[in-house]
Amino acid sequence: MSNQTTARPDSETLTFPPGFRWGVATASYQYEGDCENSQWRAWEKAGGIANGDSAGVACDWWRHAERDFDLAQQLGLNALRLSVEWSRLEPRSGEWDTAAFARYREMLQGLRARGIEPMVTLHHFSNPLWFEEMGAFLAPSALDLFTRFVARVVEELGDLCDLWCTINEPNVYSVVGYLLGIWPPGRIGDARNTYKVQATLARAHAAAYRAIHERQPTARVGWAQNFNILDPATNSPLDRVIAGIQDAAYNDFFPRAVLAGGAVFPLNLFAGDLRDVRGACDFLGINLYYRERVAFSLRHAGQLFGRRFVPEGTPRGDRGLNDFFGEVYPDGILRIAQRLGVFGKPIYITEHGVADRTDRIRPWAVEQGVRNVHAAIQQGLDVRGYYHWSLVDNFEWAEGWHSRFGLAALDLATQERTLRPSGQFYSAIATANALTPDMVRQFVADVPASAG
Ligand code: FCB
Repeated sequence: MSNQTTARPDSETLTFPPGFRWGVATASYQYEGDCENSQWRAWEKAGGIANGDSAGVACDWWRHAERDFDLAQQLGLNALRLSVEWSRLEPRSGEWDTAAFARYREMLQGLRARGIEPMVTLHHFSNPLWFEEMGAFLAPSALDLFTRFVARVVEELGDLCDLWCTINEPNVYSVVGYLLGIWPPGRIGDARNTYKVQATLARAHAAAYRAIHERQPTARVGWAQNFNILDPATNSPLDRVIAGIQDAAYNDFFPRAVLAGGAVFPLNLFAGDLRDVRGACDFLGINLYYRERVAFSLRHAGQLFGRRFVPEGTPRGDRGLNDFFGEVYPDGILRIAQRLGVFGKPIYITEHGVADRTDRIRPWAVEQGVRNVHAAIQQGLDVRGYYHWSLVDNFEWAEGWHSRFGLAALDLATQERTLRPSGQFYSAIATANALTPDMVRQFVADVPASAG
């Protein structure tokens, strides 16, 4: 599989177009600390995190984000994706926290002063408690409330940012919260509402897209879609059909809504009218981590008759508490970029990374991710930037502090950061705007057994 997609021999220097964005991706709840009004804080208190962890002060960004902005600058990065925390800016419905807006202004100014272009995400999993309590994106007024929030953010911060990511991973938010029940609101097996929520998020995205453009005609607006590569376990027609159905249901619901203004049967039964969603994007954000295989199985009716698994011997990061994380599969970047070529829009890799406390596999994942981006550009796809998830170890949702995604390790007690070798490697790439054989020799010691 990987031979067909990883296009370049190791011996060549891969040079990137001038101005290519080398960034890191972050999110407010995972980095800022003390987001007391978020539904995630309530979820922590209710025992929702398997090992009892809580975000706490997290990476202490609300007070000291500038420490990590300095780090990003020292690494030679020119882009950073961060989110604004709705639960901070609007702690009660219709009440705005002017000090919180001022802090975000300071942060965005801080990034720009360091030559780092911000990409601001407007919704990254975290809701204000008052919004959650009224049913979140199932509430009849959800669309209006979210749009009101977005309009306010753009009015307050629009002079400092013109690259907006409306919603992070609508498919993860709805599937993990309403089907798997591992995240708030903890519903299990609620397929109907999984797709109702996702359809509302699609309409919310489109409404946000328009609200932003009305206030800032030059804005570039997109969303970040999680893609889980779902390949058939074998070439049998049944495995292929089931893998295709799972792929359409998980990966393609939202892109299809934006591309075609509709949904495939039977998801259209839950989705309602999606016509307004059509065309609502200036760029596509790809979040790519894993691959799983899908085998037809009569015993897995709840998963559309597909059993998902990760074959023995494939590259893996650290195993999570919830066994969420599949095969580390950077070649998915090129495959998905090719798939999204039909939109004819710029593409950003808005997240790619791996949970790896000891940096055993991350250098390889960075190298392969970068090779895939380069191959996509060589094929004429308009990939403008790569944002590694993430700069520093951070609060990994239901995994708590167990899973470590940072280019830099974080000591939570002292807030000390220690750059991992993968961080040095990524810095070398960003600084040179190129990947050279020397860098690979220096930083990528071991290729995982079954890779390549
Ligand atoms: C993505 C999320 C991000 C982070 C990474 C590891 O699904 O968008 O917040 O948790 O996974």
